[in-house]
Amino acid sequence: MSSAEKIAAADLANLSVVRYPDPRLREVCTPLEVVDEAVGVLAERMLEVMFADRGVGLAAAQVGVTVRLLVASPSFDEGDRIVLVNPRIVAEDGWEEMEEGCLSFPQIFCKIKRRKIVTIEALDLAGQPIREDLEGFAARVVQHEMDHLDGRLLVDRMGQLAKLAHRQALKQLEADFVGG
Ligand code: NI
Repeated sequence: MSSAEKIAAADLANLSVVRYPDPRLREVCTPLEVVDEAVGVLAERMLEVMFADRGVGLAAAQVGVTVRLLVASPSFDEGDRIVLVNPRIVAEDGWEEMEEGCLSFPQIFCKIKRRKIVTIEALDLAGQPIREDLEGFAARVVQHEMDHLDGRLLVDRMGQLAKLAHRQALKQLEADFVGG
């Protein structure tokens, strides 16, 4: 399916966050071929879902639309909105370990090591190329959401100890998941 077909198939008025182990979270997402009005509507709906669920970032796959689009608000301020279409990391520097969560893994928080500084190239909602230098928490949020674009999840970044510590919570999510 093309990105446009995936967006057209989504029920944009009723988006909700899909949880681990939903298989859509494991897909390598499709690049957006065009940045049109439908992409803008999807991004707007994703921001609404993200703020409503008290998240600081959300990838389209997390609302079941497996395209390379992410939204974020590292300061959790309605005025601070990052929307990235087809983002890629073009430079990175340093490492930092911090506690991190994910709306698709409710109640699970664990320390994850990520790049401290990243430079991102992407398209904005006007389809124009943008370049952003991000540092600290903002860099972390965007790296986390970019992981989702490749089907990579918090559980893949956890160390053995964290996995053990969260074994029950992960099992519960697996038991709660109604596939289909
Ligand atoms: Ni996440």
